Amino acid sequence: MVEIVALVLAAGEGKRMKSEQAKVLHEVGGRPMLAHVLAAARGAGLDRLAVVVGHAGAQVAAAVDADEGTPRAEVLVQPEQRGTGDAVLAARAWVPAGATLLVLYGDTPLLTAPLVAGLVASHARSGAAATLLTAVLDDPRGYGRIVRDGDGRLRAIVEQADCTAEQSALREVNTGIGCYRAGELLAALDRVTPDNAQGELYLPDAVGLLRREGRSVEALAVEDARLVLGVNDRAGLAAAERVLRERTLERLLAGGVTIVDPATTYVDDRAQIGADTVLMPMTFIEGRCSVGRFCRIGPGAHLRSSRLGERVQVLHSLVEESDLGDGTQVGPYSHLRPGTSLAVGVHVGNFAELKNASVGPASKVPHHSYLGDVEIGAGVNVGAGTVTVNYDGAAKHRTRVGDRAFLGCNANLVAPVDVGPGAYVAAGSTLTEDVAAGALAVARARQVVKAGWVERRFGRGGEGQPGPGAEGQPSQA
Ligand code: UD1
Ligand code: CA
Repeated sequence: MVEIVALVLAAGEGKRMKSEQAKVLHEVGGRPMLAHVLAAARGAGLDRLAVVVGHAGAQVAAAVDADEGTPRAEVLVQPEQRGTGDAVLAARAWVPAGATLLVLYGDTPLLTAPLVAGLVASHARSGAAATLLTAVLDDPRGYGRIVRDGDGRLRAIVEQADCTAEQSALREVNTGIGCYRAGELLAALDRVTPDNAQGELYLPDAVGLLRREGRSVEALAVEDARLVLGVNDRAGLAAAERVLRERTLERLLAGGVTIVDPATTYVDDRAQIGADTVLMPMTFIEGRCSVGRFCRIGPGAHLRSSRLGERVQVLHSLVEESDLGDGTQVGPYSHLRPGTSLAVGVHVGNFAELKNASVGPASKVPHHSYLGDVEIGAGVNVGAGTVTVNYDGAAKHRTRVGDRAFLGCNANLVAPVDVGPGAYVAAGSTLTEDVAAGALAVARARQVVKAGWVERRFGRGGEGQPGPGAEGQPSQA
């Protein structure tokens, strides 16, 4: 069996992006374009991968290292960016002799694993020296054109800048994606020269050379040209985003998810969402999220890297790196920060903020609370305005609240502090000491009522009492 290795070219500057950031790190669907290309290669079964970096190389190499996929990709350096052919030459020492080399460009984020796998399989079947993917576009501007002979066989690839008027009119373009017999490609690249409009060593020129030397070169046109879109500028980036989003929404719709308003629904392509879940308008699902069946998400929901069980409802709220059990309800207007875990049936209502918080089954946090670094048991009622005072200016401390405890409104729990199972905390308390199971804690000043105080202060009938129109009060015209 011939070994197949994949090389992703990602060393170019991407001038047309007009950006401080390397082009291949610009994000589509919330991930760098490069990450999508690597994922397509891995999905096609390739297990030896390398990325050629150069411009902003440290940045791109860091992104390759941070990429979560396996197997990991190696980083190779192209010291000077002298064109796509030169980028492949920079990998010469890495490419095993006799291997099949799959070349991908880091700026084609819409590639899919089946497309890559199909190319590799077709290359293996035909035994050609090179097999290229081409696409027929309505608007071929910016791409290299495929020039074919009278008998339909590929003759050469001509870059936009080098095209004659006649060649510019050709609508079949080079996608940059191709499979090669590595040794023959490298040998051909050694003979390519930079005598073209951009003064670069073009990888496609090696293909023309192989053809002229009588080697077999296959050119396969993809059916769906949207899969091979090359992003060169911000308009291309926006176009890629649109296509990826549509693809993801179509997959969800086909899987039984209701999307009330696709135009305002944004879902990461890695999201898993169960059938009969409804996505309401203005909903954002970012990162690797999984959402169970029968949920109602939105309007105005924003989920990031979270897991939601079944029958969960999230309304006008932000949920980040959190785990929501079956039947939980969140919102409107709450913020679950990383490390929040809600057990079955928990209800978080309005204006609550939770962080590193685990909340036990059927507990309620209905209004205006801050719960940070806390473990709350089952069946607990967290009164309006409850605050865990978790930070003493230097360190964070934990709070624990036992099952069935009742926290009265506006209580401050100064951590570290424990409230035992079934205990009651009186409204307005500031707890600095633990409360035993079943106890009532009252930690506030006793109320004082001074009868007749107004008359003593302002006279009988309160004549001297400041009222509307007096200084400092709103006057009535
Ligand atoms: C390239 C092709 C063109 C094809 C198009 C498809 C060449 C010469 N042209 O044009 O035929 O239609 O892609 O999208 O190959 N890169 C390096 N080192 C370099 C130069 C580029 O690694 O020295 C990388 C870039 O980072 C990028 C990829 O190669 O990921 C393609 O380079 P780019 O400049 O975008 O080529 P295009 O002009 O789009
Ligand atoms: Ca490009």
